[in-house]
Amino acid sequence: MHNVTDLPQPKTYGPLKNLPMIDKNKPVQSFMNLADELGPIYQFQFPGRTSTFVSSAQFAAEICDESRFDKKVSPPLQKVRAFSGDGLFTSETGEPNWKKAHNILLPGFSQQAMKSYHNKMVDVASQLVQKWARLNPNEAIDVPEDMTRLTLDTIGLCGFDYRFNSFYREQAHPFVEKMVRALDESMNQSQRLGLQEKLMVRSHRQYKEDIDYMFSLVDQLIAERKENGDQGEDDLLGHMLQGKDPETGEALDDENIRFQIITFLIAGHETTSGLLSFALYFLMKHPDILQKAYEEVDDVLGDQTPDYKQVKQLKYVKMILNESLRLWPTAPAFSVYAKHNTTLAGHYELEEGDAITLLLPQLHRDSEVWEDPETFKPERFEDPASIPEHSFKPFGNGQRACIGQQFALHEATLVLGMVLQHFQLEDHTDYQLDIKETLTLKPDGLTMRVSSRRDHQGSLAPVASPETEEKKEVRAIRKAIISEYCRRIVVSL
Ligand code: HEM
Repeated sequence: MHNVTDLPQPKTYGPLKNLPMIDKNKPVQSFMNLADELGPIYQFQFPGRTSTFVSSAQFAAEICDESRFDKKVSPPLQKVRAFSGDGLFTSETGEPNWKKAHNILLPGFSQQAMKSYHNKMVDVASQLVQKWARLNPNEAIDVPEDMTRLTLDTIGLCGFDYRFNSFYREQAHPFVEKMVRALDESMNQSQRLGLQEKLMVRSHRQYKEDIDYMFSLVDQLIAERKENGDQGEDDLLGHMLQGKDPETGEALDDENIRFQIITFLIAGHETTSGLLSFALYFLMKHPDILQKAYEEVDDVLGDQTPDYKQVKQLKYVKMILNESLRLWPTAPAFSVYAKHNTTLAGHYELEEGDAITLLLPQLHRDSEVWEDPETFKPERFEDPASIPEHSFKPFGNGQRACIGQQFALHEATLVLGMVLQHFQLEDHTDYQLDIKETLTLKPDGLTMRVSSRRDHQGSLAPVASPETEEKKEVRAIRKAIISEYCRRIVVSL
């Protein structure tokens, strides 16, 4: 944005501008704190550029108007282009491959497609359940790590019929290690100063090696599929190899297919694994909500392996996921630019090209919209129509919104449903939330213990319901009545 003088701005430190105001490891949380301090719109100066952050439902509604704003591939996302190129996530809307790939891939993310992925999702979720069922009682689960195994394997299997087999490995698959390191390096590059960046010779070498590894694994996948010909695979790679853009009649080229596969692996697994990790964290901290979820899961699934329709019936589980995404949207921000000169809130003049970033965790805490915003309350999502438009945006906006939303929600509902079907959860460390930031958010160091809900004959043991405030009150009243009754008997004697 050009300098709008009346926008609030944090303290400036000479040539470093506002940079010292943010914790390099927790930039999103720093920007959230600044929004608390400075209000729903403020300007932030990096050494080479200026950003404007907004975080209220009122501003969100304006910047989600697609006639005035379009997705901005922000400087950190531009760095990610080194390995995701003009894939869907990192391409400009005007680049020819965005629309082409969008049209070709939409059927691969339709409800019909979800039905065909369902059994593959169950396959991977069952591996997680089997692993947890075999743990010894005092063994702890690293929640984000196992959720990352699960979501990577799911997108691998549904996307490209490839098994990463992460549950059979002590360490994550090498692809994950390299992808995470490359993502980290691209984020770091976007924060380094010019000279500092030139000195990072070793990091640059490592970066190149990591990217080469990702390209070669993905290129091999594409080459093998082409060699074997179409075997009727119903997966994303199949859609990309066979699909033609109905508008132009064109197909995607191999380089773009490579970028799309890497995009799905990045966009498709960290976000969903973070969501599942946060949901488990919230459930462990809210026994009443956990109990209600157990009741729904027992009612809908019983002892059965969930089928597609049953997953759709897990309404309360889905509300828990939405509420987790409200408080901690795992893709925490997105950016847009003004398509032409315009005014924000009838007051702030924007020039064509000016960029704005929407801070989702702050938007989702806007007290004009959300009552008691810090409280975890899935019931808010009972009636989705009651949520004001543009006040809940965990999957982005408009034509550039997340293409994988249904995929993520089906997978996460299924997995949470199966976890609750099989296990009681124990918050054995009394975990205190500490959020780790990469391109996404996750609860750092979250561990838990689980115990089977089945007895030795394999039947489902109902989970004892915790004492709610309501129950406590009923018990106190009952006690008072009995003691009054006894007193009267004693008096009458
Ligand atoms: C809880 C899980 C997920 C969350 C919170 C999430 C969030 C988002 C958000 C906020 C955007 C918009 C980004 C922007 O405007 O810059 C986005 C875009 C995208 N997401 Fe997701 N996502 C999730 C899961 C997935 C999955 C499972 C896939 C693929 C299998 C996926 C693939 C994509 C792609 C390809 C785009 C770019 C779409 C386009 O611009 O055409 N995401 N996602």
